[in-house]
Amino acid sequence: MKEKILEEFRRRFDTSPELYASSGRINLIGEHTDYNEGYVFPGAIDKVIMAAIAPNGSDMVRVYSMDIGEYAEFGLREEDAPEQSWARYIFGVCREILKRGGEVKGFDAVFAGNVPLGAGLSSSAALESCFAFALDDMFNCNRIGKLTLARIGQSTEHNYCGVKCGIMDQFASIMGKKGKLIRLDCRSMDYEYFPFAPEEYELLLVDSKVKHELADSPYNKRRESCERVANKLGLPSLREATKEMLDRIRDDISAEDYSRAKFVIEEKERVLAVSDALLARDYETVGRKMYETHDGLSKDYEVSCEELDFLNDLARENRVTGSRIMGGGFGGCTINLIKKDQTEAFIAKVKEKFAERYGHEPAFYPVVISDGARRV
Ligand code: GLA
Repeated sequence: MKEKILEEFRRRFDTSPELYASSGRINLIGEHTDYNEGYVFPGAIDKVIMAAIAPNGSDMVRVYSMDIGEYAEFGLREEDAPEQSWARYIFGVCREILKRGGEVKGFDAVFAGNVPLGAGLSSSAALESCFAFALDDMFNCNRIGKLTLARIGQSTEHNYCGVKCGIMDQFASIMGKKGKLIRLDCRSMDYEYFPFAPEEYELLLVDSKVKHELADSPYNKRRESCERVANKLGLPSLREATKEMLDRIRDDISAEDYSRAKFVIEEKERVLAVSDALLARDYETVGRKMYETHDGLSKDYEVSCEELDFLNDLARENRVTGSRIMGGGFGGCTINLIKKDQTEAFIAKVKEKFAERYGHEPAFYPVVISDGARRV
């Protein structure tokens, strides 16, 4: 990929660029908890967005996306927003750096990636983090600070892409470390790296290939439900909410909002239970919690879809240790904790059964926990 990007850069521009990359992410457990100030458990993966970037001495940004095969250019003022949705991520990152008093000058860039799009692996966070990290390195002598870089990506989603996301994806993409999952407290932003390399088990993603687009999905509606319930409870977020508190206001809120908040309250506890289980190397408990999360996401939070529920059923039938829908939902992947010696047979079974029902095979990605944003 590196050579391909450099070659394209040389074809288009006559400067010598620096190369940067940032990663997609998985999340072991803790879904839809980030914007409720709860805990999440992500890690960066070995699928990246990579960009060659060089200052161009003007106040224009000129970018070519190799995967989409499109060129965009824009100025750095608010009114210069580009039309192409992929370019708005880069424009947003520039604007958010400038808004915080950072420096961004004109630059030329070519980028490409291997994070599958719309699969719930946060290709957009990888793109934002790659450019945020690069522009900090290039124009700000790395003064911005990693947490702020993650916030810059998150604000880009909020202000330029229409997704009111939490901080998990950008945080994982920026902060990821090889072989380590990160348990992040989304209220205090305290985090801890957990080594994840069980001998007997591995993590496998199964991509339903049902595309999700969070901006058009009811993702923002889920967030509104949670905020309504927190409001009713007189709390800043659902972080402090308990099942008892929720039951006390049950008659004052809609059945739908009740279910959404119930899921979040239970999920918050599951992340903590999984942290303990991981430390005790009790992977059976980790797996059981993953199934519970799936049920909650499917029945209470209602962000699953038929194909993902089917994949989850197949995992159960084949005695996979843990399995659940991963990420925002409405399509994308399941994440599976599976005994290494079962993986091959499971993949064969899923291919057959899924194709029988939906006419196409899912894709399978073994998870390799890798480094986040970096200069290449
Ligand atoms: C998307 C968002 C994240 C998080 C997950 C659900 O990936 O970008 O902030 O809310 O959904 O856990």
